[in-house]
Amino acid sequence: RDGSALDVVEALGDAHQLSQVIGNLLANACVHTPPGARVEVRVGAVRTGPDTGGTDRPGRCGATAALPAGVEVCVVEVADDGPGLAADAAQQVFERFYRGPSADREGAEPGSGLGLSIAATIAGAHGGRLELDTRPGDGATFRLLLPRSVGAGP
Ligand SMILES: Nc1ncnc2c1ncn2[C@@H]1O[C@H](COP(=O)(O)OP(=O)(O)OP(=O)(O)O)[C@@H](O)[C@H]1O
Ligand SMILES: [Mg+2]
Repeated sequence: RDGSALDVVEALGDAHQLSQVIGNLLANACVHTPPGARVEVRVGAVRTGPDTGGTDRPGRCGATAALPAGVEVCVVEVADDGPGLAADAAQQVFERFYRGPSADREGAEPGSGLGLSIAATIAGAHGGRLELDTRPGDGATFRLLLPRSVGAGP
């Protein structure tokens, strides 16, 4: 940390499982968007709220119940500028075996539809939450929220 302009964002958890979550989100952002789509990864420590995440708001679907507002959390976002998801699809993405409407088409993207449900289970097991902000035509932002480690940060 010394001498670096970057902040450390610290969360307690199973490193293997958490990297599986982030790997899943990155793979999805590549597989389920057209070539040339932009993908951004953002990391930070915030308080839950409509703008930062964790609480409900229009266009947001969570795999589990919303967190209370104002809670300190660590966040990892994977945001793409791909096609996004329709509201009914967004509500089902965290269900086991759910795949998008084009999944049965010839030449469709491969996948079993399990990635996000596993990722959501891991997030919940860490006391956190996985959620999605999206609108059709407006990209998809998947957000992993984890409780902030006690005593971590400034
Ligand atoms: N970034 C994204 N943009 C648009 N649609 C997405 C995105 N990520 C996921 N989806 C949709 O959600 C569905 C479920 O995703 P999930 O990761 O659970 O399964 P999958 O990617 O199809 O298969 P796998 O089990 O290999 O991950 C996808 O099939 C796709 O339709
Ligand atoms: Mg996937």
